[in-house]
Amino acid sequence: MTALPRQLPEAVSIREWREDDFPSIQALSAAERWTTPVERPDAAVRAWRSSRPALVAVVEGAVVGFVRCISDGAVTTYVAELLVAAPWRRRGIAVALLDAAQARVPGSRLDLLATSESRSFYERMGFRAFHGFRMSWNERKA
Ligand SMILES: CC(C)(COP(=O)(O)OP(=O)(O)OC[C@H]1O[C@@H](n2cnc3c(N)ncnc32)[C@H](O)[C@@H]1OP(=O)(O)O)[C@@H](O)C(=O)NCCC(=O)NCCS
Repeated sequence: MTALPRQLPEAVSIREWREDDFPSIQALSAAERWTTPVERPDAAVRAWRSSRPALVAVVEGAVVGFVRCISDGAVTTYVAELLVAAPWRRRGIAVALLDAAQARVPGSRLDLLATSESRSFYERMGFRAFHGFRMSWNERKA
């Protein structure tokens, strides 16, 4: 990704997500006003089960961040969700999550849709801007 110097705080570790992380994922998402894990928990947990790489950052047993990706295993790894809890931001956790995810699918490129708030983060990481589009199920049916 990028050659920015970074050192993950010692207390932080990154591992594969587990089913019992889901309540923490819901809480972190709710704090960010991401509605799907709270309003459609069954769909969200199914999405996590089908996603790979899907990783969490943990401090003393508590989930403080996560990345959920969908990959074809070779060419494209799509970053569906990336979130770090507000008190833990700007310590290198997001970049460590992205690095760990990409390392699990060596050779693949990362694609994603940024929000207006996260755009500067991805630019800082050296991502190139593309024009993304999104249409939800309900919009398509409308
Ligand atoms: C965007 C987000 C994931 C970044 O997480 P983070 O753990 O704070 O990011 P990192 O600490 O790994 O940042 C790596 C570098 O980018 C910088 N950075 C972090 N957030 C930034 C931002 N919003 N704008 C510009 N630079 C940013 C950091 O300072 C760091 O630079 P440094 O190495 O020179 O210190 C986090 O702010 C977040 O969860 N936001 C809300 C959810 C969100 O928008 N997710 C993305 C959805 S597309």
